[in-house]
Amino acid sequence: MSLFKYIDIKPLGDDRGDLISLEANQNIPFSIKRVYYIFNTEQLASRGFHAHKKLKQVAFCIKGQCNFILDDGSEREVALLDSPNKGILIEQMLWREMHDFSHDCILMIVASEHYDESDYLRDYDHFIKEVNLDKG
Ligand code: TYD
Repeated sequence: MSLFKYIDIKPLGDDRGDLISLEANQNIPFSIKRVYYIFNTEQLASRGFHAHKKLKQVAFCIKGQCNFILDDGSEREVALLDSPNKGILIEQMLWREMHDFSHDCILMIVASEHYDESDYLRDYDHFIKEVNLDKG
């Protein structure tokens, strides 16, 4: 079983161009409380390196591409995001890292919660301890 789910959004384009619509509890499987985007990323920079206790997210590269590494404490998987109509659903308690940003990458994330630093696990060893606690 994969650690994440691809979310394919049907483009509503026509001969004028493309249009993508994201709707809470429709093609995005939660109530959206926050949207943020990452752009002008330095060549060779990597981001993320954290997990969330509660937050769910769907990430899209609306321009360019980048790689996500997802890790549940036992397995690691890589997901390439390279299309504005292909997102990945990242559930809670998954370590994520973003690498290999193209110079033009705009990474847009829709999130189920407002920003809350106390929801972050930013230390990998701490994350592993929490995963093992959850397993009982
Ligand atoms: P950070 O968590 O380091 O970004 P990433 O995990 O994508 O590499 O966030 C960078 C800074 O921005 C940090 O000080 C927290 C702040 N921030 C907010 O204030 N609101 C937000 O919605 C996000 C995602 C980050």
